[in-house]
Amino acid sequence: MTEIKRKVEEALCSLKPHLKGEQPIGLVLGTGLGTIVEAIDNYVAVPYTDIPHHPVCTAPGHQGRMILGRLAGKSVVALDGRFHLYEGFQPETISFPIRLLRALGVKMLLISNAAGGLNPNFQAGDLMVITDHINFTGRNPLVGPNEDDWGVRFPDMTEPYDRGLVHLAEKTALQEAIKLHRGVYAGVLGPSLETAAETRFLRMAGADAVGMSTIMEVITAVHAGMDVLAISAITNVNLPDCYKPALIEDILETAAVSGRMLGRLFKKVLEQC
Ligand code: HPA
Repeated sequence: MTEIKRKVEEALCSLKPHLKGEQPIGLVLGTGLGTIVEAIDNYVAVPYTDIPHHPVCTAPGHQGRMILGRLAGKSVVALDGRFHLYEGFQPETISFPIRLLRALGVKMLLISNAAGGLNPNFQAGDLMVITDHINFTGRNPLVGPNEDDWGVRFPDMTEPYDRGLVHLAEKTALQEAIKLHRGVYAGVLGPSLETAAETRFLRMAGADAVGMSTIMEVITAVHAGMDVLAISAITNVNLPDCYKPALIEDILETAAVSGRMLGRLFKKVLEQC
């Protein structure tokens, strides 16, 4: 067995006492979506530090945790605390929790993130379901020897975001009177925000929003054969001809507000799948 598979197996073994034999749905809780944990019933929270080989978050006092419980009547495993390339994590480290979710039986993954809007029709506080992405990070979690048991060497990327789940999210948003755009997410390395020229370039490249997460996780999930639904909370809008500083305090405040709306949307989507 390869080193990485052995590590995932050991991590899986440590979680066995909490498993109920059901196939759980995976959730990656991005900036602002942490509050959805309050809606999860009968949950067990396992700190990442208690899971062998699991990466640990760098933010002070926030080591991250895996939440196993029930949401909208479904068994869920949520990653409360995620990993970014800009923190210095390697792509394979960022994919570790996703590999672990797959080993736990996850076939459907719901991802959230905070992103800057590039589409002039967007406003801060809006939500956008991701229909496709452009990987501008220059990194890929599948570089290196391929684990054939996990997925193929050259995974197809014609539809990384499951079309049925995108439709379900749009239908549910309509029912719930939640404004939901659809669009292309550009993933960048960060941590510096974009210049006006970079913003213009990303928009011309076809992106509707830009962010510093999600891409490594989605590539890993698609490689592992999972169905992915990803929704961005648009925390600020960057227009190159009217460029304003995006303050991190404002980004976090908006993420907290739209995160609650996104939590409601995810819960309603879960009820219907
Ligand atoms: N750029 C990149 N990442 C982001 C932004 C942004 O404007 N807002 C929230 N995450």
